Amino acid sequence: MAKRNIVKLGDDILRKVCRTQLNFDERLHQILDDMAETMYAADGVGLAAPQVGLLRRFCIVDVGDGIVELINPVIIEKEGTQTGDEGCLSIPGKSAAVTRPMKVTVRAQDRNGKNIIVSGEGLKARAFCHEIDHLDGILYIDKKEN
Ligand code: CO
Repeated sequence: MAKRNIVKLGDDILRKVCRTQLNFDERLHQILDDMAETMYAADGVGLAAPQVGLLRRFCIVDVGDGIVELINPVIIEKEGTQTGDEGCLSIPGKSAAVTRPMKVTVRAQDRNGKNIIVSGEGLKARAFCHEIDHLDGILYIDKKEN
């Protein structure tokens, strides 16, 4: 595994729409492992492929209960709302209040291409929304309330 550089605000890559990930091969597994190492080293709870310079639709989340890898994720259900402080490893040292769903259900694929359904509440729901937004070039600062 190897840590990768995290792309910072101002780089165009963070504003692009990512492409579907079609290959579930050793290369994808290596990138996911590298992203995990990068996220943990930076004390983050999520990281999306464009943040390591790849315009592909996948991201990882770990809010403290184990890593979730989401390939080609789509939010299929949202419930309730929550407003709380949110930050981003691509925008170091900053945070702002953002309103998100309290609970979301995500349909995605795992690293082997198998279809999965994952639900998250609270911080996990917030992290899923934040990371999936990255895949469409959307940053939390586009949604902040103050
Ligand atoms: Co982010």
